[in-house]
Parts: sequence; C-alpha cells; structure tokens
Amino acid sequence: MTATIALPDYSSAAYLEAYSRINAMVIVGEGLADRHFRLLARAIPEDAETLQTLAAMEGRHARDFVGCGVHLGVKPDVPLARSLFVPLHALFLKASRAGDRVACLVIQCLIVESFAVAAYRCYLPVADAYARPITAEVLKDEARHLSYGEDWLRPRFQEVAEEVVACCRRAVPVALGMLERLKPDLDTIGIAPVELVGEFMACFQESLVAIGFSPARCRQVLTELAAEALA
Ligand SMILES: [Fe+2]
Ligand SMILES: [Fe+2]
Repeated sequence: MTATIALPDYSSAAYLEAYSRINAMVIVGEGLADRHFRLLARAIPEDAETLQTLAAMEGRHARDFVGCGVHLGVKPDVPLARSLFVPLHALFLKASRAGDRVACLVIQCLIVESFAVAAYRCYLPVADAYARPITAEVLKDEARHLSYGEDWLRPRFQEVAEEVVACCRRAVPVALGMLERLKPDLDTIGIAPVELVGEFMACFQESLVAIGFSPARCRQVLTELAAEALA
C-alpha cells in the first residue's frame, strides 16, 4: 500500500505567510553558499575553477527559488532570514579570515550542504507543482557540493579529524538553533521539524563516515550535540 501524503493548501493565507519565511531562508542560504564557495575558491587556489563552478550553481539555486516565491505571489521575508543566518555566516567568515580551510569546508560543505539536502528531501514531496522539479534538480547539485568537501577532507583525515570534531561542536548547535524560529512555519508547509532534524543527522553522519570517522565515533559526537541541543 502506498502512503498518501496530505498536500498543503498552497493558496491559503497561512501557507503563503509561512512560505514567505521559508522561501527567504532558502534564497538567503543559497546566496550565502555562493559567497562561501567564492571565498573557498580563494582559500584553495588549486581548486579555484571547481569552486567557482559550485558557487555559480548556488547563485542559480537562489534565482530559481526566487522564482518559486514569485510563482506563489509571495514576498520573501529576507531581513528575517538574513538575521537568522548571521551566527552561522559569522562562524564561516571567522574561519575564512583565519585561513582555516578545514573549518570552512566543515561549515559549508558538510553542515550547510547536509542541511540543504535534508531540507530539500523533506520539501520535495510537499512542494507545489512549480517548485517540485526545481527542488529535485537542486537536490542533485547539493549532493555534489557535499562530495567536494568529503573528497578534500578524506585524504587528510588523520591530520584534520580532531579539528573537524571541534568545528562540529561549534557549528552544528548554531545550525540547529536556526530551526527554532522556523518550526511552526515548517509544520505549516508540510515539513515535520523533527523529521528534518533526523534527516540532517543521518546525512551529516554519512558525510562524517565518508571522510573516515568510524560509525561509533560519529554516533558519540552526534549524540553529544543532540543532548546539547535539547538541554
Ligand atoms: Fe544550493
Ligand atoms: Fe550547495
């Protein structure tokens, strides 16, 4: 038996109101990802061309999601989204200014991209007919962005492992904290916040294993972070 997903009423005032905030988060998040990959291109000159390509993909995602808001006649709440992204963006900029490539890659390629993958996976089944194919395409690109970070970190695992853990401790709670303000809006557009967090944790754990952590060590780190988030 196939489970039927109850689709939201895309024209209801409640949906459009919630969408104005979620859509803005996506647009601002994609725009920041564009900036972060451009900064990474400067930090890792040997991969500059690849990283510029990834940045351009993020810019395209931002424009595509602007189109999704326009299609529904929604004005995205960009100031709110910008303010919610400040702590995570600040962590990235601090790492970038310090020349800390490991932290930059962990924040953008592992944490932000795992979040993007999780969010788009959860949104896909409840998206409107205009946004659905766009989201499906974007999802494929985000997987490539995750892989870039994994491929850079994997051969350096022994040297960077502890730095990766330290960076996760700083940045994962910040990323999860952004969700707090958005929980009711996520519910309204058909995404259960707990499902999104679960999907993020699964995706993030997979990326930690991909760079060389044992599943047991991943569980230990993620359990600590989850306990901290719930405290
Ligand atoms: Fe993106
Ligand atoms: Fe991305």
